[in-house]
Amino acid sequence: MSLARALRAALNPELGIDLGTANTVIYERGTGVLVSEPSVVAFDERNEVIAVGRSAKEMDGRAPGRIRVVRPLHGGTISDFAAAHVLIKTLVDRALASRARVAPKVVACVPGCATDIECKAVEEAVRAAGGRATTFLPQAVAAALGAGLDVTTTCGKMVVDIGGGTTEVAVLALSGVVGMHSIKVGGDYLDTAIAGRLRAQRFVVGPLTAEALKIKLGYAGRPAGRAPIRISGFDLVHSAPRAREVSEELVGEAMAEGIDRITRAVWSVLEQTPPDLASDLLESGITLTGGGAQITGLAGELSLRTNVPTTVAPDPLECVARGAAEVLGSPTLMERLGPSADRLTRWYQSLRIGMRESYSP
Ligand SMILES: Nc1ncnc2c1ncn2[C@@H]1O[C@H](COP(=O)(O)OP(=O)(O)OP(=O)(O)O)[C@@H](O)[C@H]1O
Ligand SMILES: [Mg+2]
Repeated sequence: MSLARALRAALNPELGIDLGTANTVIYERGTGVLVSEPSVVAFDERNEVIAVGRSAKEMDGRAPGRIRVVRPLHGGTISDFAAAHVLIKTLVDRALASRARVAPKVVACVPGCATDIECKAVEEAVRAAGGRATTFLPQAVAAALGAGLDVTTTCGKMVVDIGGGTTEVAVLALSGVVGMHSIKVGGDYLDTAIAGRLRAQRFVVGPLTAEALKIKLGYAGRPAGRAPIRISGFDLVHSAPRAREVSEELVGEAMAEGIDRITRAVWSVLEQTPPDLASDLLESGITLTGGGAQITGLAGELSLRTNVPTTVAPDPLECVARGAAEVLGSPTLMERLGPSADRLTRWYQSLRIGMRESYSP
């Protein structure tokens, strides 16, 4: 980083925060990722925080009863406000640890873009960590910006952000959201499906093993020819811990229904998209972001199923936080995105009370 940039970052820090169901990423404009940690907090029996992030995730499924391991977000919404506060405050503190204590400007993305109460909770935690007022940006918009898509032109762009708790599909043009769909299917859903498939064979595995199987052997479309993997779990037939091999096919077949749901979400947004914009997509394609974008074969399979060329964004796990931070460099864009952000928030709120399933502005 140049000296001028370093000085600007130190004197006027600008942060993008992606508070995700699986991971929280904090990105500093002009610098890059400062913190990327699992969204997990561990408490002891006196409710004292004993670990946040990676070290807390490692305790999941292994901790004795007196230790409570909490994921503050589920399916894209905050389910434990106290733990969410600890998570955000601790990670913002970590991000700013090496910085001069100048209050940063913050743009935050919350999955499902949250109710007022959730946004307030995020704002309070950011303020407690020394941040200035927080602005909120819809996750799909941030994902598109972070993937480097120019959303200001008339040419439509589609982004599909596949996270731990949700998949958000959006078409953007002229700095606004033209069509959008959000489903509570993401990496966690696939992990549960893999664990469920093994359980049906009377073999029980923990969430970390199911996730590791998805990452190492998961695929969409055709198997990639990878060798089976040996895992440990609990054999219900013999009522004893045991090791066994798991094939690529077992993992891929377990994931297939979730992949179908993601595909249907993409189709539903393509159907809502005005024909002229839809034809732009043949040129600009679909960009995948989020951890789920890295599922082996997914981009190819979506290209086949939708007939729209599909690619994975560079550093897909960072896109939302990067987009949130980079928008701070463009006040005009932030202003233009503002109204659509408001409308989106209202749409999300209506989703919460079960009124609608898809968004059109
Ligand atoms: N190589 C990979 N293959 C498949 N899945 C992966 C891979 N790497 C990460 N994942 C999955 O991606 C998910 C996390 O992605 P991400 O960090 O984008 O989610 P998030 O932003 O926390 O969640 P959300 O946006 O739903 O709130 C996890 O389910 C993780 O298992
Ligand atoms: Mg996300």
